[in-house]
Amino acid sequence: MSEHNFYDSLRDFAATDPLRLCMPGHKGKRLPMPEWDALAALDFTELGPTGDLYGPGDDWLEEAQRLWAWDWGMNAAFFATGGSTQGIFTLLALFTRPGDTVLVDRVSHRSIHNALALFDLRPVWLERPWVQNRALTGPVEQQTLARALEEHPEATAVLLTDPTYYGVHSELDDLARLCHAAGKKLLVDGAHGAHLPLVLPGEQNCLLGRNPYQNCDGVTVSTHKTLPAPGQTAVVLVNGKSMKQLRAASALTATTSTCFPMLAALDCLRPWLHENKNAYRETARRCAELRADYPCLTLPGLDPCRVTLQVEDGHQTAQALEARGIYAEMADRDHVVFICSAADTEADFARLRSALDALGLGKRPPAISDLPAPPAPEPVLSPRQARFSTAESLPLAAAEGKIAAQWLAPYPPGVPVIAPGERVTKKILDYLYKLCYSSNSAILVCKE
Ligand SMILES: Cc1ncc(COP(=O)(O)O)c(C=O)c1O
Repeated sequence: MSEHNFYDSLRDFAATDPLRLCMPGHKGKRLPMPEWDALAALDFTELGPTGDLYGPGDDWLEEAQRLWAWDWGMNAAFFATGGSTQGIFTLLALFTRPGDTVLVDRVSHRSIHNALALFDLRPVWLERPWVQNRALTGPVEQQTLARALEEHPEATAVLLTDPTYYGVHSELDDLARLCHAAGKKLLVDGAHGAHLPLVLPGEQNCLLGRNPYQNCDGVTVSTHKTLPAPGQTAVVLVNGKSMKQLRAASALTATTSTCFPMLAALDCLRPWLHENKNAYRETARRCAELRADYPCLTLPGLDPCRVTLQVEDGHQTAQALEARGIYAEMADRDHVVFICSAADTEADFARLRSALDALGLGKRPPAISDLPAPPAPEPVLSPRQARFSTAESLPLAAAEGKIAAQWLAPYPPGVPVIAPGERVTKKILDYLYKLCYSSNSAILVCKE
């Protein structure tokens, strides 16, 4: 195709001043919120000249997605406007069938727990190793995956999270080899990894740099989390499946009223990434300097653009930063997590540094109490049975022996202590109490 692109095609169409006797109701003119006015012109419904995200393809929109797949060195890409939540649903719809067993990272976001219930999948949990003195879990270990693959030949797929919220990144190439040798698909929730090809060290394996997901069967990356893209935008990338299959799987849980400005933003983001590789490397360099100067998490293979402070009291540190107008992504008892991107300027880093200096945190992380999460309890019901059961809310003190209808994933360590369908045991309750839950804290359990 020509130099033209999807974004230009929308602008050209808007410039013809079409009389829009169709959705959306603003007709491309005005929205009650002035900041959105400039976008209204591009906010179309599916019309001949706009293309259709869920249509037969062969339009500018399909070309824009094809170019993303090309840049990442994967077979097909799809623009998800429902974030990586939609991406996770898409991957599971594409690679699994209801009732399948799936080996799932215990460090999984709630969207994965929801997907397991919606698609009636049976999780076998993959536990991660505890990292001493860091109050969190490390990368997925090969031997853990190898053992689970051997013990569960019936599993159809493996679903991992990479990187984690704290920036922990696993050796996905090795894990993909293990999965493929056992005839299983490797799917990855890469919600926090959209920028990784620009900054990961190692040999270039795609046009953007080093794509850590290249040997996986499918990944979803939340462009909105770490790249300059609007909220809710994500891209799903797959190998071994066609665009048509990807589109059909995605349609299962998507709105039929696609937001065209979001799609145009993804189209414009692709060339931007090529032009701004150096900007991300500069961000990674500044993050490395921060890690050297403040009490930060350091582990091999960390996301170069994630900075995790390890402090005496994460909540208090985050509050002290907020008092100075600085807002972290997340804080827990022991950590404060900053997402850094190319949009953070030298002046922004300097502002963060002077606030951290004022807090007098020192250079070395303090010793913290290690409270590894107990192993996942035996499942009694499937996630689907538990999530769609009649549930009641009980105080923890009355929940022993009951079956959980919700998950509880306290941070740290961000590992679900209990998931829907699992029995609440004394061991689980004792752990929650040690983490400062009270016997009056509520938990949703299945009604008997
Ligand atoms: C690890 C992880 N996976 C998936 C999601 C869902 O992504 P999105 O917000 O793009 O739907 C999140 C959101 O925070 C997340 O942290």
